[in-house]
Amino acid sequence: MARRPPLTFFLWLLWFSLLSVTRADDKACTGHHGGKYYDLNPLQAGKDYELTTPGGLELVLSACKSVSHETWGLKVQDPGLVGGFIRRAHGDFSMGQTNTTLSFSGRAGHPHLTLASGSKCVDSDGNTLDHLRGSTEIEFICDPSHGAGSPRLVAQLPPGGDELACAWFVEWRTAAACATSEGTTFGGVVWFLFISTLVLLLLYLLLGTLYNHFVLHLSGTDALPRFSLAGALYHVREAWGLARDWWGQRQGGGGYGALPRGPVGLGGPAGNGSRA
Ligand SMILES: *[C@@H]1O[C@H](CO)[C@@H](O)[C@H](O)[C@H]1NC(C)=O
Repeated sequence: MARRPPLTFFLWLLWFSLLSVTRADDKACTGHHGGKYYDLNPLQAGKDYELTTPGGLELVLSACKSVSHETWGLKVQDPGLVGGFIRRAHGDFSMGQTNTTLSFSGRAGHPHLTLASGSKCVDSDGNTLDHLRGSTEIEFICDPSHGAGSPRLVAQLPPGGDELACAWFVEWRTAAACATSEGTTFGGVVWFLFISTLVLLLLYLLLGTLYNHFVLHLSGTDALPRFSLAGALYHVREAWGLARDWWGQRQGGGGYGALPRGPVGLGGPAGNGSRA
């Protein structure tokens, strides 16, 4: 009946749970700044956002995910990872790769997204520049009255019109950029229970080993506590008995707590034994 748990199994579980805890911390498009929590994920619901460039071209942008528009003629390595693009005459131009890592580098501490590694820029002679690629910086500003809000193109650089532009700065007023509470998810509760159980098991393993070693003087693998159904039932029954006794004492009813008051036993009724 008794079976030793393989230690590697526990180590593996511990490693896996630690991994999941750290991963929960950098959930896509969320971040902590100044003791506050930000979650921009509401912005990825629904369609892409459409704007117009100063020169009248169509600009399509998405937040926290790739654009869902069909693109054509994109000259980038991964056309499925485009955070925004401009519809130019000779093909779409990527404004940068999708990015879900928030940064708070700006002076005001607003959440930012940086899209980099877009299409290759061109110079004023029309030559493609191998070392320079399209990039976009989006600053999200908290505005509870805006709902999802919409992006606004603040600037595009270098100067020289839509065909030369290769870097964009976008401002996005939205309620999603307001600090929020982290909230408890069902998954979070499950993980909490799982990790608590794991910690208790490890504690049992550790204390059991120490007990077996120092009190029972077992050594080697004999000192590892064994899990067995009979043993577990025994401990449960023991705990139940203790709990019942404790309850009985508190009630002052039956059990050990109900000792009669006053002298009992050989002396007979009180008063008889003492004569002046
Ligand atoms: C995503 O944004 C982070 C923070 O600004 C930046 O460090 C990282 O290089 C970006 N990744 C890509 C692929 O652009």
